[in-house]
Amino acid sequence: MGSFNQAEEYAQIGSNDSHHRRRSWRGRLRQIALPSFLILFLLFITGHDHIFRTLTIWPSSACKKPIKLQFSPSSSTLKISIFEDLHFGEAESTWWGPEQDIRTLQVMSSILDMESPDLVVLNGDLITGDDTQLDNATEYFDRLVSPMVKRNIPWASTYGNHDNNFNISTEAVLEKERGYYSLSMTEKMVTGKAEDVGVSNYFLSLYQIGHEGPVAILWFFDSRGGLAFQRTEKNGEKIQLPGTVDPAVTEWFVRTSRNLKRQHRRESIPSLAFVHIPVSAMLTFQEAGVDKHRQPGINDDVPLSSQVGDEEFLAALSEAGVQAVFSGHDHGNDWCMPVEKKGGMEGGKTMFACFGRHTGYGGYGHWMRGSRQVVLSPNGEIETWVRLENGDVSGHVMLNETYGTDEYPAAKKAFTSLGAGEPR
Ligand SMILES: *[C@@H]1O[C@H](CO)[C@@H](O)[C@H](O)[C@H]1NC(C)=O
Ligand SMILES: *[C@@H]1O[C@H](CO)[C@@H](O)[C@H](O)[C@H]1NC(C)=O
Ligand SMILES: *[C@@H]1O[C@H](CO)[C@@H](O)[C@H](O)[C@H]1NC(C)=O
Repeated sequence: MGSFNQAEEYAQIGSNDSHHRRRSWRGRLRQIALPSFLILFLLFITGHDHIFRTLTIWPSSACKKPIKLQFSPSSSTLKISIFEDLHFGEAESTWWGPEQDIRTLQVMSSILDMESPDLVVLNGDLITGDDTQLDNATEYFDRLVSPMVKRNIPWASTYGNHDNNFNISTEAVLEKERGYYSLSMTEKMVTGKAEDVGVSNYFLSLYQIGHEGPVAILWFFDSRGGLAFQRTEKNGEKIQLPGTVDPAVTEWFVRTSRNLKRQHRRESIPSLAFVHIPVSAMLTFQEAGVDKHRQPGINDDVPLSSQVGDEEFLAALSEAGVQAVFSGHDHGNDWCMPVEKKGGMEGGKTMFACFGRHTGYGGYGHWMRGSRQVVLSPNGEIETWVRLENGDVSGHVMLNETYGTDEYPAAKKAFTSLGAGEPR
C-alpha cells in the first residue's frame, strides 16, 4: 500500500528543519534574476484558483502570512478537510506505533487526493504527548504535516489534551508550526500562560473577490486538558490542566467578534468554530437520544466526554452568530446536532455542533478512519460529509434551518482493515 513511499516522504520532510528551509529559500532567491521572478509570480497568481497567494518576496518571520484565504472564484465555496485525533508518536517504542503513523499518513494523503480541500484543520491531539520523549516530541510535527506540505495546502491547528504533557507543550508545537510560515495559519492571539489560557486561540478571515472585508471568519479555540509541561506538584504529582476553553478566551472572543462586525459595518459575518473537546451541549443532546436518520453518524462513545462548565463559551458562540462548531476527542462519534437556543438568545440562525471523524491510526478505537469535509458558501450555507479512508461517503447532510428534522439514510458502521488481534 505504498508505505515505503510514505516513509520516504516523511523522512525527507523530517530532515528539513525550518531554519534549513529558510536559508535555502533565500539562497535560491538570491540566485535567480528578475525574469524568472516574474514567471514565478504569474504562476503563483494563475496556478491556484482556490487560494490566492500573495507573493512574499523575502519570506521572513516578520511576514508570517503570505497566504490570503479566499473563496474559490469558480465555485464560490471554501472546502475544509478536518483531520482530528492524528495521535502521532503513540506507542513510539513498540513495533506497531510507527506502523500506525505510516497508516495515518496514508489516510491523510488519500483524503487530500480525493477531496482537494482549500484548507485543512488539524483539530487537536496531533501528537500523543503521553508516550513521547522530551528531546524529540515535536519532531512528529514534521511528519504529520508532510501530506499538506507535499500538496501545498495550508492548514490551521487547534491543540488537544494529548498535545499537552510532561514532555510536550503546545507552545513547543506552535514554535514548530512557525517554521512552516508559508502554510501554517496557526497563531496565539490571547496572551497569557499556555496552562492558563491555552495557545491555539485565534481567528482567520476569508475573502471573496469583489468584496471589501472578510466574508467569513474561522475561529479556533484551545480546550487545553492533559498535563502541565515539565512541572509537578510539591509531592511530585504531575499537574492536570482543565479541559475547557478558559473564560479569558471567551471574553477575548466576544470582544473581538464585536469589533470585527463594527469595523466592517456588518450585522453578522458567517463563521465557523473549531475546538478539540466538544461543548457540553453535545453530551446533553446525546443523553436525549441521537436519531440515526436525523443525525446520521456513528454514536459509539456513550456517554461522550465533553467540556465541563462551558455554558458561557457556548452562549458566546451562539450569540456571536457562529453557525457551526466542530470537535474531535470522542473517536467513536461523528454526528452533527442543532444546538437548542436558550431563552434570551438572539433570534437569528440555529447553531450546529459536529464531531469530525477520527483520522489517525494512533488513539483508541477500530472505527474506519476518515475526515469530515465542510463546504462553506459566502451566504453561510454549510454542506458536510465524512469521507472514509476507503473512499466511501458517510453522513452527507446540509446544516440548514431544517437540519434535525430532515431525514437522511443512516450511516453504515465500518471498521478498519486491521486484524482483530493487532495491538492498538
Ligand atoms: C519524558 O522524557 C524523559 C527524558 O527523555 C523521559 O525520561 C521520560 O520517561 C519521558 N516521559 C514522561 C512521561 O515523563
Ligand atoms: C524519539 O526518540 C526515541 C528514543 O531515542 C525514538 O525511539 C523515537 O523514534 C524518536 N522519535 C522521533 C520522532 O524521532
Ligand atoms: C435543507 O437541506 C435538505 C437536504 O438537502 C433539504 O431536503 C431541505 O429542504 C433543506 N431545508 C431548507 C429549509 O432549505
